[in-house]
Amino acid sequence: MNVYDSDRMQDLMNAVGYENSDTPEGADMVIINTCHIREKASEKLFSDLGRIRPHKNKKNGEMIVAVAGCVAQAEGEEIFKRSNVVDIIVGPESYQTLPDLVGKVLRDKKKQINLEFIPDNKFDNLVELKAGTGASAFVTVQEGCDKFCTFCVVPYTRGTEYSRDVNKIYEDALRLADKGVKEIYFLGQNVNAYHGNDENGQASTLAKLIEKVASIDAIKRVRYTTSHPRDMSNDLIAAHRDIDKLMPFLHLPIQSGSNNVLKMMNRKHTRQDYFKTIEKIRQARPDLGLSSDFIVGFPGETDQDFEDTMDLVKQIGFTQCYSFKYSPRQGTPSADSKHQIDEKVKDERLARLQALLSEQQFDFNKKSIGVKMPVLFEREAPKASAKEKSDKIQLWGKSPYLQSVIVDVATKEEAQKYFGQIADVEILQARPSSLMGKIV
Ligand code: 5AD
Ligand code: SF4
Repeated sequence: MNVYDSDRMQDLMNAVGYENSDTPEGADMVIINTCHIREKASEKLFSDLGRIRPHKNKKNGEMIVAVAGCVAQAEGEEIFKRSNVVDIIVGPESYQTLPDLVGKVLRDKKKQINLEFIPDNKFDNLVELKAGTGASAFVTVQEGCDKFCTFCVVPYTRGTEYSRDVNKIYEDALRLADKGVKEIYFLGQNVNAYHGNDENGQASTLAKLIEKVASIDAIKRVRYTTSHPRDMSNDLIAAHRDIDKLMPFLHLPIQSGSNNVLKMMNRKHTRQDYFKTIEKIRQARPDLGLSSDFIVGFPGETDQDFEDTMDLVKQIGFTQCYSFKYSPRQGTPSADSKHQIDEKVKDERLARLQALLSEQQFDFNKKSIGVKMPVLFEREAPKASAKEKSDKIQLWGKSPYLQSVIVDVATKEEAQKYFGQIADVEILQARPSSLMGKIV
């Protein structure tokens, strides 16, 4: 979602005459969009500000520095106190006011801050949708969260749950289809709790929204993230059986395999609930690729709790996952727990879990060898080594199961032909986190 928000801020500033720059060197404005979800992510802000300072000095201070995103929301005025290079602080639900704030800084020579929660007004002001419209485009359909997991800052930084109207999302999808976008990726912190109004003013569902957008001819693929196990409704599960354009992949974070920990996390589901949901969805779509998020070392997590997580992973079998060490976030209930886990124990648990998850991902990739699958090509593949740089042109795309697929092409012209297109690829080789193949 931060990528989506950064693109929208870029659109907003482009509309008032700013152009993009690849470097802060000489720039009239720098926007740092921040994440507050774990400590490491928010620490980056102050080191980035330190790197920007000399560039601002070189321009005799004639550079507007804006801090946007969830660190801005959570830290507010404190950021001005910690770093005097900052001119603007703007939250994730009020960045539509950025051009205004810039105007005020230039006119009044005064620092500006806006941390309001005005999501509906925000989307009404974001009509351009230019940046980030390649083969696949994100569309935010829902924001915020009312679930209050005890470790998580999202309900505080993104605010209460909000769903956009069906028609507005549909219009976005049509505009994107016109620009050549083939895949729409619906975004929301709680995307499957989506309940935006339809054309009759009735609350819709994510399943209905998927069906509507999938009816656009030029849109060939639909995906969504991130879902909560509690909101995995029967109509959404049925959509995975009935709608061909809905890709066979689901990111469904469980966080822990232990009921004790899930309870302490206030997740409102048990490990048994999760098994049941996965069984239902695999019945609907047997080839579904499954992903999840895990937190290890949550306060009070015992060895046995962690073994329950390992056991759940072994029983389910994931195709890719994210896993993190618990990071206490100020203001969340679990940050004050007296049962914090030793850093070394967290490290050991994370290493064991990640080894298992990587093995499962590699196994899934190996099963793809010899299979022919449609791949949506998005861009040139990043070069692995200097040697590769000289002699190879490689394309990067996504399989239906969200695997990275890389193919060789002979010429730049041929590469151009495939960008933004779906082509059948025979998988020749599996790597731990990608596949190599040839277009057939
Ligand atoms: N510490 C570690 N991981 C966290 N996440 C959210 N909050 C924390 C935290 N305090 C993880 C969860 C979530 C993902 C986006 O980030 O696993 O699903
Ligand atoms: Fe955070 Fe997700 Fe829990 Fe909401 S459901 S509080 S976004 S982890």
